[in-house]
Amino acid sequence: MSMLSPQLMPTYARLPVAFVRGEGSWMWDVEGRKYLDALSGIAVNTLGHGHPKLVEGLREQVGQLIHTSNLYEVPLQAELADRLIALCGMRNVFFCNSGLEANEAALKMARKHGHHLGHDRPKTIVFEGAFHGRSIATLSATSSAKVQKGFGPLVEGFVRVPLNDLQAIEVALQAHPDVSAVFLESIQGEGGIRPADLDFLRGLRALCSAHNILLMLDEVQCGIGRTGRWFAHQWAEIKPDVMPLAKGLGSGVPIGAVVADGAAAQLFEAGNHGTTFGGNPLAMRAALITLSAIEDDKLLENATARGQEIRNALDESLAGQPGVLEIRGRGLMIGIELRDPCGELVRRALDVGLLINVTSDRVVRLLPALTISKAEADEVTRRLLPLIHDFLRGQR
Ligand SMILES: Cc1ncc(COP(=O)(O)O)c(C=O)c1O
Repeated sequence: MSMLSPQLMPTYARLPVAFVRGEGSWMWDVEGRKYLDALSGIAVNTLGHGHPKLVEGLREQVGQLIHTSNLYEVPLQAELADRLIALCGMRNVFFCNSGLEANEAALKMARKHGHHLGHDRPKTIVFEGAFHGRSIATLSATSSAKVQKGFGPLVEGFVRVPLNDLQAIEVALQAHPDVSAVFLESIQGEGGIRPADLDFLRGLRALCSAHNILLMLDEVQCGIGRTGRWFAHQWAEIKPDVMPLAKGLGSGVPIGAVVADGAAAQLFEAGNHGTTFGGNPLAMRAALITLSAIEDDKLLENATARGQEIRNALDESLAGQPGVLEIRGRGLMIGIELRDPCGELVRRALDVGLLINVTSDRVVRLLPALTISKAEADEVTRRLLPLIHDFLRGQR
């Protein structure tokens, strides 16, 4: 099936498949073929497709009110903010519409905090392997040369260090006394499912507090239950000062949020930031339903259990195989790093009715819905493992 659409800008290398319907972890294409979805729209469809509570709640909300603007009170924003801050123990929330927008807000907060500290040109520490979005500021914070190519000049004020190297942070802080924030993903997603070590996160927390700089944890991909805790940093028993969220928060309805604590919660004043669509009743309702369903349907427990089953199957079949470098992740955020570029596996998986992704050229990425059943999780590895073994044989 060829579906090149010349009227669309060619920004995506799309697969030749178009879906018309979804139910739970399954999707059907225009020709009626059925696929098992182990990617959930890149960590977006938290509740899978067509979750009855989401469908019913959104239908009702669409009939009631979709958008009013932030010129007026939006009571659902306060309701959702209450829920989010209860889950993470932080102070307040700004709502927007996407991951990069949440990160832009965070970066503005870092700048403002820096000015409060008396720095004219405040800097933010960012990391090798990071991905934070594709606006000019967030692509500058991102570490991929591919993402940045052609879009210079980049935004100034970023200091890049390796992940999981606390000493490198200390050196950077000495070399740059005008740093006002440290910004990283609790688990790098696009960079190849690379977790920040829990000890590293704890060390960062202590350093940031000692230096009065903001710890900003991008939980756009790893947050909202994906790792078996509400937020991935909770595995380290720490709290950030700033936490951008998006993707899975709305189960498919676009939404972003930046949650703040302590001094960070007082940075934005009237007129400092805003967005037309942010916090609209439709998105708020989607997120409220998502959070309730995670609780009601025990999806944190499900993410942990199903994630462990998938990991066990992968470890048993692939660990130590020549060509397999590492299997890593937490809960339902799983990466299999191979020695060789393996993008072709996405196409081969499509042929056997399985939706997966390859990131950083060599990392097979699984991000299924938090609602995935045991039988479906088994089916993911039953379909995936032969493809990986075939691929490895071909590389020998
Ligand atoms: C960790 C992280 N931050 C930010 C973004 C950007 O989010 P969006 O595509 O909604 O702008 C992504 C998207 O993949 C992400 O994984």
